[in-house]
Amino acid sequence: MKEYATDLCQFLDASPTSFHAADNIRSYLLAHGAQELDEAASWQIEPGAPYFVCRSGTSIVAFRTGLKSMGDAGLVIAGAHTDSPGLKVRPGMHKQNQGMVRIGVDVYGGAILSAWLDRPLALAGRLFLRDSQNPGRLKTLLYNSGKPVGIIPNLAIHLNRDVNRGFEYNAAQHLPVLVSCQREKRGAQSSALSWLYEFIGEETSFDIAPDEIVASDLFFYDAQKSAMLGVQLPSGVDFINAPHLDDLAGCHAILEAFCSAQPDEFGQVACFLDSEEIGSMTMQGADSSFVRDVLARLAIVTGVSAEDFYRMSSQSLFVSLDAAQGWNPAYPEKYDEKLSPLLSAGPAIKINANQRYATDSQVESLITMLASQEKVPLQRYMSKADMQPGSTIGPMSAARLGIRTIDIGHPLLAMHSIRETISAFDHAMMIQLLKAVYKSPPSFH
Ligand code: CO
Repeated sequence: MKEYATDLCQFLDASPTSFHAADNIRSYLLAHGAQELDEAASWQIEPGAPYFVCRSGTSIVAFRTGLKSMGDAGLVIAGAHTDSPGLKVRPGMHKQNQGMVRIGVDVYGGAILSAWLDRPLALAGRLFLRDSQNPGRLKTLLYNSGKPVGIIPNLAIHLNRDVNRGFEYNAAQHLPVLVSCQREKRGAQSSALSWLYEFIGEETSFDIAPDEIVASDLFFYDAQKSAMLGVQLPSGVDFINAPHLDDLAGCHAILEAFCSAQPDEFGQVACFLDSEEIGSMTMQGADSSFVRDVLARLAIVTGVSAEDFYRMSSQSLFVSLDAAQGWNPAYPEKYDEKLSPLLSAGPAIKINANQRYATDSQVESLITMLASQEKVPLQRYMSKADMQPGSTIGPMSAARLGIRTIDIGHPLLAMHSIRETISAFDHAMMIQLLKAVYKSPPSFH
């Protein structure tokens, strides 16, 4: 259990953005013998061997074809999202007031804003650079400052006496990140992003001149590392507290289970998808053609007939992972007591009458039986009847793929805060359950 928790913390610390998460997933897959396929090249597929495809640098679909034809044996698919709410650098916003330099940000997804204040923030993302060797071409670089570079200071309570009654943070006014007070130094007259690019050029080991950077996607993130905490003896690990657990914890569990799975008659697929926090409708999100494109192409190159492709859909299973609202003892009135997962009591199946989660009672029954064979405790999550839950990649994947889907997740506290909390036990149980799903998926016929 502690080993999985330690591994997860390392993955989280190395993955401050979805670009870094995808890059780490890619390295892990390569280290486990998977071969990368380019969407622009033609594919050669060996039955039972692992492959993966990356789209837009942030979404990955990995697969191992089955030893039987897709149409006869179907697929077992697990998926989670690689992105998390946060603060994204606005290219045009750069504020200097009395020499205090602040970098403007956009709020990406539904972040809890107050959690971002008074906390050392680091900077990471993707840069596109002019390729001096090949005019007209670009080079991509992942950047991570690896150390704090800014802060969003609160106003003193003496100047905002009501702050503890709730305060509305305005993204344009209050959230620009303070990065310098060196009045006359670097970039006093510089335009928009060049100040930041100058800093990046000086900081990285890649020797970049600021004017080489053509465009970028940069995010601030919590510079504090992941933490394992709790008072349970002897392991001392009750909780994992870290940024981006929703849903890099799900990605990590799927990656572990997929890489340790053995080839079987049915195909095995693992999806790591970007853009969930902003609705998934991008070229690489769950509401895109990406997963279906990979599956259809797989069918084409392995000689599966069009009819067998549809036979595959009807026999396959999609396990959609995303964090579930864990019961928070300080706010019992917000939960349905009988249907709120406790931390350290196992993964939670997510259910909603209006299908904000894709689970139906058939797939719930089959996964429940599989979990009980594996001695993995399961819980149920339903939001209170008078509240609307969030959604996941589950319903749109089910609709786009025509594949039976279950929504399941780690019980998690403080969803969308800058740091979230799960239990180390639940993470180990989630991995065990996914291993069982990839080994002996339930049959629908
Ligand atoms: Co999520």
